[in-house]
Amino acid sequence: MSTRTATRAQAIESALEAARWAPSVHNTQPWSFAVSGEEISLRADADRKLRVSDTEGRQLLISCGAALFTMRTALSCEGYQPVVRVLPDPDRPSLLATVRLGATIEADEHTRLLRGEIERRRTHRAGFTNLPVPEQVVERLVKEASMEQARLTPVRSPDAVRVVAALTQAAQGVQAQDRLFSLEVIRWARPPGSRRTDGVPAEGYPREAVRTDPDFPQRDYSWRHDWGSQGDQGASSTAGVVALLTTPGDTREEWIATGQALQRVLLHASAHGVSAAFHTQALEMPHLREFLRESLCSGEQPQMIMRLGITFDQTAAVRRPLYEVAD
Ligand SMILES: Cc1cc2nc3c(=O)[nH]c(=O)nc-3n(C[C@H](O)[C@H](O)[C@H](O)COP(=O)(O)O)c2cc1C
Repeated sequence: MSTRTATRAQAIESALEAARWAPSVHNTQPWSFAVSGEEISLRADADRKLRVSDTEGRQLLISCGAALFTMRTALSCEGYQPVVRVLPDPDRPSLLATVRLGATIEADEHTRLLRGEIERRRTHRAGFTNLPVPEQVVERLVKEASMEQARLTPVRSPDAVRVVAALTQAAQGVQAQDRLFSLEVIRWARPPGSRRTDGVPAEGYPREAVRTDPDFPQRDYSWRHDWGSQGDQGASSTAGVVALLTTPGDTREEWIATGQALQRVLLHASAHGVSAAFHTQALEMPHLREFLRESLCSGEQPQMIMRLGITFDQTAAVRRPLYEVAD
């Protein structure tokens, strides 16, 4: 047994602590965990589903998939092979996965690198500096996604980037005028100084961001309020590398795989100083999503739209404590 190996109870606690730091849509943290012996159950928390913008629970399952990858990474670094079953029981659809502690192992250097980024990684919500993302890093991110059965496609042509930006603008424009969409975003916006442990904190986006060219509008978390951080976080204006995460089909298994791929990509990017900004508004509108699928995704299903780039800004994030999410 490796000298690094924690006791099984410590390993489980460390994996649950880590899983809380996964990204989730609007920081809804739509998961709960149950421990039975040496097995962790990951469950979807339907009360935290976005009923207007995520009727099918696609983004909920992507978020939980990211938590699953985080658990796997943490368990490996505690010295245990994670033995995962995805959607193990057709009669319990909210049971998304079980993770059992397997043989003792020594995590490889790359897994330890990813582990080190779990709490440090942050979503960015503005333009990037004009420092380029190294091509080798982009290529490696594509490989990381493929290891989790998803495809990351950097959008290389400026015309295609403009199309993705235009779809984002159209979706954001329509959603901003839709009362139900707006109310849902506001429901998950965390006001300055709030003690809530979920939602997008006002310190997590600039009060006024400089427009990127082409412009990728952010979600309006500060709707009609003067919220947002006042640092120079919003001063950079480079859009960065636009990338699409896709899967061949659109099943629940593939949504969970997308989340695992997403977190693998984000942690690897973070380890190389690269941050991600997300713009998933167009994916919440079926006709725009279908258009994107046909026109830019070679018929695959678009699951995430992101921009990758370099920033020196630190955005804020909060998480629910372990005792609220685990039993
Ligand atoms: C499925 C999914 C969709 C997301 N969509 C957006 C988005 O459209 N705009 C955005 O600013 N962030 C988006 N995010 C990022 C979340 O807001 C972010 O993960 C959450 O607030 C936690 O913050 P952190 O990533 O900094 O830890 C998305 C995340 C996930 C998993």
